[in-house]
Amino acid sequence: MNDIKEILINPIEIKNKIKEIGEQITKDYKNKNLVIIGILKGSFIFLSDLTRSIKIPHEIDFIRASSYGTKTCSEGDVCITKDIEICISGKDVLICEDIYDAGYTLNTIVELIKLKNPSSVKICSLLEKDVIHKKIININYLGFFIPNEFVVGYGLDYAEYYRNLPFIGVLNKTVYL
Ligand code: IMP
Ligand code: MG
Repeated sequence: MNDIKEILINPIEIKNKIKEIGEQITKDYKNKNLVIIGILKGSFIFLSDLTRSIKIPHEIDFIRASSYGTKTCSEGDVCITKDIEICISGKDVLICEDIYDAGYTLNTIVELIKLKNPSSVKICSLLEKDVIHKKIININYLGFFIPNEFVVGYGLDYAEYYRNLPFIGVLNKTVYL
């Protein structure tokens, strides 16, 4: 596809990494009350594969944050447009995100989740972008560290398109410049 400049991470690499992360989470959360909270919309494909790679019982819920609109740079005003619905008090929360960029989204969501009295809060992010993060977040489970490029696919969008691509690819600048 002309809109994609380069494939950064192919489907096999994604699959293998998720298997590895799932095995680690399975070990780490044995005998815990694991709740995975996916950040919509970008994490929906990652979460759907991750949940099936985790071999212990767990709950799933979603929170919806919106920061980019149709732009390709982060601006810091994160809106929560849908909160979680299940009770997480006393439970072990794992937040599932598509990409850690400036860090505003994760920072806002971690603070919100902590107010609900979970036993623990950890973060799993498929990608981390090589930028100077505006908010420093400790990512407990990371898929891939990527260069500072705008990427799409495997759930990540530009203006709501490209989420269906099975790989993570760099979007051609001609699409948005
Ligand atoms: P942050 O709040 O700046 O860390 O931005 C995180 C959010 O912006 C993520 O949840 C993504 O939805 C979106 N985002 C950041 N970088 C990219 C990208 O390269 N492609 C697509 N979405 C991105
Ligand atoms: Mg997005």
